Amino acid sequence: MSGFDKNWLALREPVDVKARAMQLVERLSRHVEANAVPVILDIGSGTGSTWRSLSARVPRTTQWHLLDYDPLLLAEAERRIGGGSGGAVTFRQFDLNQIEDLPLDNVTVVTASALFDLCSADFCNRFAETLAKSRTGLYAALNYDGMMEWSIPHPLDQQVVLDFNRHQRFDKGFGPALGPDATEHLRLAFEALRYSTAVATSPWLMGPDERDLQVAFLEGLEKPLVEVGSLTDSEIGRWLRFRLDTIAEPGSSCVVGHTDILALPRR
Ligand SMILES: C[S@@+](CC[C@H](N)C(=O)[O-])C[C@H]1O[C@@H](n2cnc3c(N)ncnc32)[C@H](O)[C@@H]1O
Repeated sequence: MSGFDKNWLALREPVDVKARAMQLVERLSRHVEANAVPVILDIGSGTGSTWRSLSARVPRTTQWHLLDYDPLLLAEAERRIGGGSGGAVTFRQFDLNQIEDLPLDNVTVVTASALFDLCSADFCNRFAETLAKSRTGLYAALNYDGMMEWSIPHPLDQQVVLDFNRHQRFDKGFGPALGPDATEHLRLAFEALRYSTAVATSPWLMGPDERDLQVAFLEGLEKPLVEVGSLTDSEIGRWLRFRLDTIAEPGSSCVVGHTDILALPRR
């Protein structure tokens, strides 16, 4: 069990879909199309959000391999995707800490979403070196970039964001996490290995229509804020009540910053 709940992943998926930087998806599509037998390896696949976002944008014959270490999420991915919609789809339990054993044979590009902000600098360096050996590309979307903004301000917003970003750097299973620095770290690591990189923003834009996601997101902030410990429980409680109460107010919105990166090998 990874601690990522399939209901949470389902709530965020429609907002992720709208947030993805389409200019990078288009470049990714062209790169995949240039291969006679395209193969995509999606790591930290969860229930298959990346497949659902991209499968219609790459050739129907593309083979997909979805990897995650959480058997429940993989089972849900298999239930929802089945055999795919053209090319074959496989599902495999795999702990990414064994990154040097990543099954990269014939893989055109590795994809990921909402994964690399959980990862450490050491992991990202090892990952980049592993991909570089086979000159495999990377498309990594929706890495949290440290920005949260609400249209209706509260005096504790700044401290909340600081504390959450501090918590983002705690170990999430790969060593001290990069959190908001993940995309930049990947960019530098891949450029050093003779890749061309492109980075674009992919912010979540949430208004009253995204009420359920906003509620789940806000409730999910409580534990990290308590663990960081710079705000008292009553300050956190007051801030959360204010934020939950203002979701439905006219003109209320929340932006959560993310970035996407595409890294393709220079030949
Ligand atoms: C935030 S979720 C994103 C899931 C999916 N990519 C999406 O966008 O909906 C992060 C995913 O990474 C997986 N994960 C975390 N640590 C992992 C590890 N060490 N090995 C394999 N998968 C891992 C989790 O199980 C989870 O599915």
